[in-house]
Amino acid sequence: MSAPRKILVTSALPYANGQIHLGHMMEQIQTDIWVRFQKSMGNHCMYVCADDTHGTAVMLRAEKEGTSAESWIKKMNADHKADSEGFLIGHDNYYSTHSSENKALSELIYARLKANGHIQVKTIQQLYDPEKQIFLADRFVIGTCPKCKAVDQYGDACEKCSATYEPNELIDPRSVYSGATPIEKASEHYFFDLPQFQTMLQDWTRSGTLQDSVANKLAEWLDVGLQAWDISRDAPYFGFEIPDAPGKYFYVWLDAPIGYMASFQNLCDRTDGLDFDAYWAKGAQAELYHFIGKDIINFHALFWPAMLSSANFKTPDGVFAHGYVTVNGEKMSKSRGTFIMAKTYLKHLSPEYLRYYYAAKLGAGVEDIDLNLEDFAQRVNSDLVNKVVNIASRCAGFVHKAGGSLSTTVAEPQMLADFVAAGSSISALFEKREYSKAVREIMALADRANEYIQAQAPWSMAKVDGKAQEVLDVCSMGIHLFRLITIYLGPIVPELNAKVVAFLQVKSLNFTDADQTLTGHAIAAFKPLLTRIDMSQIEALLADSKADTLIENGQPAAEPEPTTAAAKKAAKPAAQQAKVSTKPAATEDNSVIDFNDFAKIDLRVAKVIQADHVEGADKLLQLQLDVGNGETRQVFSGIKSRYQPEELLGKNLVLVYNLAPRKMRFGMSEGMVLAAGDGQELWILEGNSATPPGTKIS
Ligand code: MSP
Ligand code: ZN
Repeated sequence: MSAPRKILVTSALPYANGQIHLGHMMEQIQTDIWVRFQKSMGNHCMYVCADDTHGTAVMLRAEKEGTSAESWIKKMNADHKADSEGFLIGHDNYYSTHSSENKALSELIYARLKANGHIQVKTIQQLYDPEKQIFLADRFVIGTCPKCKAVDQYGDACEKCSATYEPNELIDPRSVYSGATPIEKASEHYFFDLPQFQTMLQDWTRSGTLQDSVANKLAEWLDVGLQAWDISRDAPYFGFEIPDAPGKYFYVWLDAPIGYMASFQNLCDRTDGLDFDAYWAKGAQAELYHFIGKDIINFHALFWPAMLSSANFKTPDGVFAHGYVTVNGEKMSKSRGTFIMAKTYLKHLSPEYLRYYYAAKLGAGVEDIDLNLEDFAQRVNSDLVNKVVNIASRCAGFVHKAGGSLSTTVAEPQMLADFVAAGSSISALFEKREYSKAVREIMALADRANEYIQAQAPWSMAKVDGKAQEVLDVCSMGIHLFRLITIYLGPIVPELNAKVVAFLQVKSLNFTDADQTLTGHAIAAFKPLLTRIDMSQIEALLADSKADTLIENGQPAAEPEPTTAAAKKAAKPAAQQAKVSTKPAATEDNSVIDFNDFAKIDLRVAKVIQADHVEGADKLLQLQLDVGNGETRQVFSGIKSRYQPEELLGKNLVLVYNLAPRKMRFGMSEGMVLAAGDGQELWILEGNSATPPGTKIS
């Protein structure tokens, strides 16, 4: 085996002016999968991130909340950290750009740029809000378009006719802060002399560090020629003051990427043997990769490598841009409830569902990906629950009945060898960030495993005398295949991986473990690994998201870079307003229902295939029900006072099949079984024992 690689990975630093939504989270998930994959391969890989805390937007947001910028960013930092943890993002450090490390590094880099003759000072005329006493970036001036006369257009471009212009060309210009008419005012600004890096960047952008489509786009820009980049802002500004320039601050985009270094520096200071220079010094052997969205390519693939090279640091080995997340085919929208905050999602659904869905859609390119919520539920249910987890749930019980140890022989050595061999093409796909292709290969393995079990039908075999060994062989084979699938899915669904580690009683399930085989190995009792998504959970999520609009009344647009096309395309901060209708209470006579009401209840026959006590619950039993079509459901039922788990095994019960699943302290309850009771005694409703599970009751 070759020596482990040393890799440092980052994702873009979220702005501290608002909450994390599922679009931001896609980037962190994409990055985290790659990092976990590297670790699973035995490489030494670290992932750092931070909040991007500076700029006018944060300053104004804090002001609006009636608090200081410092205390606002502290709260945001805690929220953002919790969101990342909730989505199982394994940051080695999540820090802040408002830190002493970042200040020191920003000053150091600036000093080096200056010493190398890469900083120029120029006086420019800029619009100024005389009331609020603040200089106005293009986007903070609105007025009537000089070309088409559309009202309320930004200072840089018209959204109606796409004309671009200077802010002082607007008819009736006014400040977004105060409504005052801006005046022109001169101010000294500091510029990073980007044109000096023309040749360096032409080479660097073509050196294999970027996706081809991105390199091509940048080549067009480079052909036109670069302009000096304004890296200073006037007070009042929340940021770092420029040394020797009182009242001037580093523009947020100057210190933001340095925040990657600062986060890593902070980690080094807390970690024995981790050496900053081994990762950042010019010529350092460790690899450095940035995952970013397509809107911030210029900053990462032009300004940043130029700064690093001037300041005598290593330039990145790769900048990986991704597209945008849309929801149900459209830009995320607050009024439709599809502007979904990370923490709102987590109230309703497991993070692994979304991690899996994003993985199933992500390629290495910059195409947008759509989160179609119906497809999401269906895909997760059919792939993860029905295909993957099903392999284990069909086999585990038989292994358990045979004593709990896997067979000492492998029933199908060739098939097992094929599954192990598949690991090399799957790992090559993960490495290239072609997750959707990796998922397709893994699901093809799951299909093959299910076909094998279906063809062998251990459940029929088990009814024939003298076939016990064969049943164990087949089911052990199923477990071997399931184990490999779990390894390959590990970077995507780490919690599932950890549960299977416990189930199989092994130390780890990494790519490096793939060629071990668990012959004769004792495994633990099978516990349900994942539950299905029900559309009612999605509906509840959307409703909750709509309500969020009232609480988080819009994220003001982050302060844009006025000279980039990307910034010009940045979304307009929509005026936020929403009303939540409170449903009128039902007034009809509800002692009688019509047939349509009754028909809404989907009652089905369900066979108890497992029944257990629930630790810590004195009324509940945990039932696993066969509900037909290969589907099992877990239901917690308050019948412990009357029934022992063993009595229920094999019984046909009546299940309310379309009842919204409920998250209980002990797990999800996916339906309800019917019982008759008078408050004292209790009788569970039993179906005819001959009825096949899943049959509808009407
Ligand atoms: N603060 C800057 C990044 C500084 S990096 C030194 C920033 N912050 S952001 O909060 O606006 O965005 C953080 C990341 O999330 C960016 O890479 C951005 O492209 C990404 N996304 C924001 N909305 C997104 C979607 N709807 N879909 C996918 N990614 C999105 O930019
Ligand atoms: Zn116009």
